[in-house]
Amino acid sequence: MSNYHIKHLEEYYQVYRKSVRNPEAFWEEIAEEHFVWRKRWDNVLNWDFKKPEIKWFEGAKLNITENCLDRHLPTRGEKTAIIFEPNNTDEEALHITYRQLHERVCRMANVLLDHGVKKGDRVCIYLPMIPELSVALLACARIGAIHSVVFAGFSSHALSTRINDSDCKIVLTSDGSFRGNKSIDLKGIVDKALEACPGVANVLVVKRTGSDITMVPGRDKWLQPLLDEAYADCVAEIMDAEDPLFILYTSGSTGTPKGMVHTTAGYMVYTAYTFKNVFQYKENDVYWCTADIGWITGHSYIVYGPLANGATTLMFEGVPSYPDFGRFWDVVQKHKVNQFYTAPTAIRALAKENLEYVEKYDLSSLKVLGSVGEPINEEAWHWYNNNVGKKNSPIVDTWWQTETGGIMITPIPYVTPTTPTYATLPFIGIQPALMDENAKEIKGNQVEGRLCVKFPWPSIARTIWGNHDRYRDTYFSAYENMYFTGDGALRDAVGYYRITGRVDDVIIVSGHNLGTAPIEDAINEHPAVAESAIVGFPHDVKGNALYGYVILKETGESRDRDNLRKEINQQITEHVGPIAKLDKIQFVSGLPKTRSGKIMRRILRKIASNDTSNLGDTSTLLNPEVVQEIMENSL
Ligand code: WTA
Repeated sequence: MSNYHIKHLEEYYQVYRKSVRNPEAFWEEIAEEHFVWRKRWDNVLNWDFKKPEIKWFEGAKLNITENCLDRHLPTRGEKTAIIFEPNNTDEEALHITYRQLHERVCRMANVLLDHGVKKGDRVCIYLPMIPELSVALLACARIGAIHSVVFAGFSSHALSTRINDSDCKIVLTSDGSFRGNKSIDLKGIVDKALEACPGVANVLVVKRTGSDITMVPGRDKWLQPLLDEAYADCVAEIMDAEDPLFILYTSGSTGTPKGMVHTTAGYMVYTAYTFKNVFQYKENDVYWCTADIGWITGHSYIVYGPLANGATTLMFEGVPSYPDFGRFWDVVQKHKVNQFYTAPTAIRALAKENLEYVEKYDLSSLKVLGSVGEPINEEAWHWYNNNVGKKNSPIVDTWWQTETGGIMITPIPYVTPTTPTYATLPFIGIQPALMDENAKEIKGNQVEGRLCVKFPWPSIARTIWGNHDRYRDTYFSAYENMYFTGDGALRDAVGYYRITGRVDDVIIVSGHNLGTAPIEDAINEHPAVAESAIVGFPHDVKGNALYGYVILKETGESRDRDNLRKEINQQITEHVGPIAKLDKIQFVSGLPKTRSGKIMRRILRKIASNDTSNLGDTSTLLNPEVVQEIMENSL
């Protein structure tokens, strides 16, 4: 028997040692005993971080949907796979069984086939959190098409950039989406995006809000009639272990978003194994992750990880504040949720509201509470532990990334003793390393450095779509033979890890990764703006908020500053999305730059955070005088 389900600390250490001493034998055993394969692998692992090239289970053949759906039908056919909780409380929740989900996936897969989608083709999915979204991912996987989900809060510009980067031929969307008391015109956003995407032949539209939309003849079709006519079974395409499963874009420090490519077998094995252990999922539990499937957390821990384990996974369409701030707890009570996985920003927002919103509900079903996306501060941790978990449900602070595919550093609940703000121990198979300024590994405990990983794990992203050089430069060039995460971390006296935050120019706002470049590009397109720089500063709900420093052109100097601020944020909303709006905008005459012309963001960050006692070395600046001006007028 392999160690699929870890139950004691002793066992964790023992299995961890095994996974590190002989990773290939370890993962081979897990893969063999807990998944269905059409053909066994020839080789468990082939890797070279220099190239970089990573291959797991090479030669194996499988279809991930057979693991997530078909194999459960004999034993779990009538079990609920997905609970759908709609935004509007007057609409009934839906329970979709494994059998029904299988049928829905097959129908959608057949519709995609009818529209000429073939193995390896890219399909863009721009949908709200409705069942069709999960079905769409699985339908692509069924026929071997590569899904590229774009979070339905991104703007038309961001959408078109992503569609073009991966050359998607077809887009799945809906007439609109419900979010709290608002409804958003998704189809309008798609229409605008497609003006810049000549390669898209078809748009398949789910009817959700019933709002008036324009259908372009020949290109746009309502999805439901096609699904109704489609055949209810669809033979699964047999995929190679290393065939791409999906592309998901994430922000980088510079340049355009990176299309991270995840492949089939390793991703399946690792997300399923982590899901089982990190949430200690048991057969009849109801599991709820509040993330949007537009992010990696939703891919791995709403769809693939839970379904590969035959779990019941809840999808929530709405927001935590609608119809009031008790909505999360109302849903937990209503569906007797056992595992609840959310982001610190949501916890902080709810902690600001009256405690009655939590206390009103029966939360006794909860067994495990999860946190992801950004460091969870001590106050939020205690609020979560006291008021939601009633000090009875362990909190798993899970550290990982779009690039890692699955959870990397985390407590295992009821196994690892937790400490607030610590992600604690590496998960099975994960070999973290902390690096110093001279690119040397820092051994021992009570140390701090840059977080790397020394050895491949099955769900590491294999490349950046269309740009393998950028993949190498971003992740494998800073430290030899290491995957570099971009995060800083410390390791305490007992070997627990605490993530201290990004060490590059990625800013995490409300748990969303935002790169500076696309936002600055959006600002700079404003006709009155000459140049800009944005940095993050601490915010009590969002974790970080954005602070923009803007240099105006001469023509802009006479303009009303408040109007300009509104226009700049409007510009950002249109180019990136409302999540990237700036909280503060300061107009400046110059930006601190090094002699090579690089903006010294370190100084801007300190000023934005009101931490100007020690600005560090400014002697290398081309224009040190501008620092004084910026400090004096800071907001
Ligand atoms: C941050 C989300 C501290 C980190 C799954 C990472 C965290 C980035 C944690 C990846 C955590 C994620 N504690 N920081 N528990 N989880 N992060 O790609 O900076 O959206 O590099 O993946 O979020 O964000 P991404």
